[in-house]
Amino acid sequence: CGIVGFVSSSTPETAGHSALDVVMAGLSRLEYRGYDSAGVALVPEDGPLVSAKKAGKLTNLTEELQANPLPEAMTGIGHTRWATHGRPNDENAHPHLADEGRLAIIHNGIIENFAALKADLLDAGVEFSSETDTEVAAHQLAKNYRAVGDLTEAMRLTARELEGAFTLLAVHQDLPGRVVAARRNSPLVIGLGEGENFLGSDVAAFIDYTRKAMEIGQDEIVTITADSVNIIDIDGTAVAGEPFEVDWDTAAAEKGGFDSFMDKEIHDQPQAIADTLLGRMDASGKLVLDEMNVDESVLKSIDKIVVVACGTAAYAGQVAKYAIEHWCRIPTEVELAHEFRYRDPVVNEKTLVVAVSQSGETMDTIMAVRHARQQGAKVIAICNTYGSTIPRESDAALYTHAGPEVAVASTKAFLSQIVACYLLGLYLAQLRGNKFSDEVQAILTELQAIPDKLAKVLENKQQVIDLAHSQQDTQSVLFLGRHVGYPVAMEGALKLKELAYIHAEGFAAGELKHGPIALIDDGQLVFIVVPTVRGRDSLHAKVISNIQEVRARGANTIVIAEEGDEAVREYASEVIYVPRTPTLLAPLLTTVPLQIFAMELATAKGLNVDQPRNLAKSVTVE
Ligand code: G6P
Repeated sequence: CGIVGFVSSSTPETAGHSALDVVMAGLSRLEYRGYDSAGVALVPEDGPLVSAKKAGKLTNLTEELQANPLPEAMTGIGHTRWATHGRPNDENAHPHLADEGRLAIIHNGIIENFAALKADLLDAGVEFSSETDTEVAAHQLAKNYRAVGDLTEAMRLTARELEGAFTLLAVHQDLPGRVVAARRNSPLVIGLGEGENFLGSDVAAFIDYTRKAMEIGQDEIVTITADSVNIIDIDGTAVAGEPFEVDWDTAAAEKGGFDSFMDKEIHDQPQAIADTLLGRMDASGKLVLDEMNVDESVLKSIDKIVVVACGTAAYAGQVAKYAIEHWCRIPTEVELAHEFRYRDPVVNEKTLVVAVSQSGETMDTIMAVRHARQQGAKVIAICNTYGSTIPRESDAALYTHAGPEVAVASTKAFLSQIVACYLLGLYLAQLRGNKFSDEVQAILTELQAIPDKLAKVLENKQQVIDLAHSQQDTQSVLFLGRHVGYPVAMEGALKLKELAYIHAEGFAAGELKHGPIALIDDGQLVFIVVPTVRGRDSLHAKVISNIQEVRARGANTIVIAEEGDEAVREYASEVIYVPRTPTLLAPLLTTVPLQIFAMELATAKGLNVDQPRNLAKSVTVE
């Protein structure tokens, strides 16, 4: 979601900015963070707090404000939403009001303990007008404000009570000229102006007005007025903010300073995975998937899983097959949605169909979902876009929470689709009481470590960038992998086709000798995704043999292996090391150098990586 807050000491009549103009301009710059709905709240000096909100893109809100203008104000907050709890409709849009409409709040993130807090508030007679976790935070803040009479202190107490991830901004009718905010695991920066101050999810929110900014640390509470900024930590101790100058131009600001959305989204991956994992476990470490409202007895009775998807999402499904069959012992097929739909697949009431789609709007996948449901199958959607068609038409949905993906070639959605498929597999294994329960627990722990390991992979990107720039005249690249490394190889090839328009193919390394090896010639560039050394049944040794086979025929071998794997060095022209992780989680790390390679090679060729030719982000035709 995108968040903006603004306070000024003067109005347009006295040469200041209008709060509504500033907030709307900020929202338009932040719209890439979500566009399910948008809303604003203003606190005029001498009037009641006013607000407006509308489902859909920001233009809907603009039209609403033209039809029903709000009074001029010097204080305002605004929000553009990427729905997590509750459908993207007018009621669930932000701001949410409490204290009889005198307090307004906007929120980015997920409040994990909202159900418990809501139950207490309902007991106390509070009435709710939306399904969101945000409205719970609004009423909780109002309750604390009534108790302590100080909005900053009330926000601090509320932040202590909330679990999960949040950026919260609040304004109150009694306090014109003041915005109070808190953040935990969710972004917020301060913009410092002359006689005006700003808050934003990122600097894009206020870059049209000031380039002076200040970071806010984890678990800190900030209060801005027109001429002051006060930060305290969660214990109430004053904190000095970290000021910095923004040297991006306005276009770069939307991309967080990266050259392209794809670059930004590749770097978003540690956060995307953390968000996909957020709130999935209870205090005892048991996996809880709230959104999975399919009857447990139905899930226990299924005897086959079919994953349907297209493009990158289908490769996520192929990775998941290895894990789901291993943990759940349920036969699992993965099929391209458009192929599944037009043959005569064996699907019945005991089949669980898992539809994986970033957009939730891919027509091929929609048709596969409809076909599966007509045959009596239960369908679970794994999707990144709340309220889109595929989750709406499915029996249940598991959201990836990766945030909007703008670049056409999928990156962070892919990794979070794998994680979401794994959560589903682990959940089914847990439900069915399978003998792998220790492994299930161990994997859940290892999954939590993935964001930090991903950050390490990204720190080492220069090696891949240099490699890509040295290969910009390459006409053909092959990718080899075994086990979960096989779909990773195919995804690496797809990225290169999509972005750099060169011939690329991914093969199962074991299949090489059955044909593709004829392609190997002097200097042929071959990426090999090497399994973990502790992998299954000497798979590692088998892949080493495969590297030798292509190397002996003149290939230029680029090996992706885990840290400490010295055995591969001898056969590799170059080794890209990634941190150690269990075999089944390795795709979450080994895919990333391949994404960077494709992006950098395309960049070196002068191509637009965000919008490759002939492609669309969401293909809504069959
Ligand atoms: C298009 C995109 C691909 C994407 C595929 C599936 O072809 O170009 O990047 O993987 O659709 O999209 P979905 O939204 O269903 O995941």
